[in-house]
Amino acid sequence: MFYSEDIVEEVRSRNDIVDVIQSYVSLKKKGNTYTACCPFHNEKTPSFHVSREKQLYHCFGCGAAGTVYTFLQQYENFTFPEAIEFLANRAGIALPQKEMTLQERRDADYSSALKEINKAAASYFYYALRQEDGKAAWSYLTDRGLSEETIHRFGLGYAKIYSDDLYKYLKQKGYDDRLLVDSGLIRFDEKQGATDVFWNRVMFPIMDQNGKVIGFGGRVMGDGHPKYVNSKETKIYEKRRHLYGFHLAKRSRREGIILCEGYMDVIAMYQAGFDNAAASLGTAFTIQQAMLLKRYTDHVYLAYDSDGAGVAAAQKAIPLLREVGISARVINMQPHKDPDEFIKTLGAEAFEERIRQAESSMMFQVRIASEQYDQQDPEERTKFQQEVVKLVSVIQDPLERDNYLEAIANRYFIDKKNLTESVNRYGAYRTEQNRYQELLERETPQDVRRQERREERKQQPQRLLLGWLVAYPDQLFPQMKGRIGPEDFTDAFYRELAQRLFEQYEATGSLNPAAIIQQYEDLEAETKAAAALQSDLPMEPSPEDRATVITEVVRKVKEESLQYQLAHLQDISKLQDIIRQKGQIPTWNISLTCG
Ligand code: UTP
Ligand code: MN
Repeated sequence: MFYSEDIVEEVRSRNDIVDVIQSYVSLKKKGNTYTACCPFHNEKTPSFHVSREKQLYHCFGCGAAGTVYTFLQQYENFTFPEAIEFLANRAGIALPQKEMTLQERRDADYSSALKEINKAAASYFYYALRQEDGKAAWSYLTDRGLSEETIHRFGLGYAKIYSDDLYKYLKQKGYDDRLLVDSGLIRFDEKQGATDVFWNRVMFPIMDQNGKVIGFGGRVMGDGHPKYVNSKETKIYEKRRHLYGFHLAKRSRREGIILCEGYMDVIAMYQAGFDNAAASLGTAFTIQQAMLLKRYTDHVYLAYDSDGAGVAAAQKAIPLLREVGISARVINMQPHKDPDEFIKTLGAEAFEERIRQAESSMMFQVRIASEQYDQQDPEERTKFQQEVVKLVSVIQDPLERDNYLEAIANRYFIDKKNLTESVNRYGAYRTEQNRYQELLERETPQDVRRQERREERKQQPQRLLLGWLVAYPDQLFPQMKGRIGPEDFTDAFYRELAQRLFEQYEATGSLNPAAIIQQYEDLEAETKAAAALQSDLPMEPSPEDRATVITEVVRKVKEESLQYQLAHLQDISKLQDIIRQKGQIPTWNISLTCG
């Protein structure tokens, strides 16, 4: 952060969060909070809450949370400096004009420096596309049917024919060579020195889900080879965690997400009104991407290429989607290769029709299997049926499984009773196998989630306690004395947050949660902290019940803390004391007088 804490705080305090958010989203007042349908994900019932008292917002649906700054960073895709400039301007505050020194820039967080470089490069390419040099690139894009509006929306650009013009531009902005090489945009070699990675290509900026540029794909204009050059992986660009176009798709009002293979497919679909499309980044679809999608939707349409490679890719993606609880349907693109080509020849309406007709992933898998075996040959037909048994036995729900058995038996003329028996037998065999497999596999998605859930359960009392301290500081802080301190929070993140809360309350006798949250430097940490400080029980218990619940929560936090100390005990003489403290916990009662 390059503005002093005082300035950041002053600008924030002069911009009421309710007023600012109100200018983007229509808020309804409900008691002490304001609610709306969340602007960050698609929903029909409002779970987005804004609190004037705490100066924070929180969506109980997708987990978006933060201060007025984070809101603008997420909604307007502002960087932090842009957000503060915007709000200062709004409140009529003059910001100190301060150029960053090189030293400060060096000290600045490495990731945000990489993002800055990518952003600078994106705007360099963007303007190059609109200059004389960029004419051929502009025609290439418009000849492919893209409108000016679409080109702008996706921030498309052009890397010129010179071998080091981007390097010179970034150099003149003061970035040092090591950082530029790390960004993946510049290469160094002994003979030629610094050169740009992208030359004479149409540039597709790749953005994270907040709309920040994290890398590029550069397409040759015409039939050259390689077709695309892509940014290498960097600290901010991990291909397995991101999806092209997802920052737009997640805001779509359309149902589900359309998953496809190419940058051009996402863009063509968007232009045709299917603004819920995203693509993996030239690599196979991953479980991390499935988990990302699951935060926003339960339905995915696969619009992979209709060739062999596309079908194979779809077959690999389906189990991953199923794994996270997303039901997938497969769009038939025949006789065309991909969504881009399909829409260009048959139009948006025909594509909409194909979406309606999309085949469930199970029937798709069975159909592909059926095509691989000669149905007239008894041996092959047995193999096909065994394949079907394997596929259907992954369905957990007995009703759903039965429905599929019925449909498959009818379509492929198989005896349903036999099929069902085989599936049941196979199911029993598989649970045995699974147990063994799980031991073998390093980290299955189930493991990751089970681990996460276990962690979450452990942390929940800590998170709730933080939320309640913020809700009732004057009643609760005095009652924490001699019982709970920041050191009792066993989770490192919540411990640090508790530290800040306790310190602030000690120093000022009151709490300013928004000021605490803006001290975090990265958006993810801010979001997590803001969500914690607003955590509360979903129901509204009576004051007495609240006291009972908070007592329970405080006891749990202490128990967990003592348990942790026991497990990490170095000095045996402390044992006595821990046991004594443990004995006292059941006598604790926390009181709470208001509702
Ligand atoms: P496609 O060949 O289908 O490209 O590859 P496309 O995006 O549809 O582009 P057009 O329509 O031919 O212009 C699908 C995706 O695979 C990755 C890119 O992410 C591309 O969008 N890819 C493809 C590469 O990374 N490198 C390549 O050389 C080719
Ligand atoms: Mn294509």
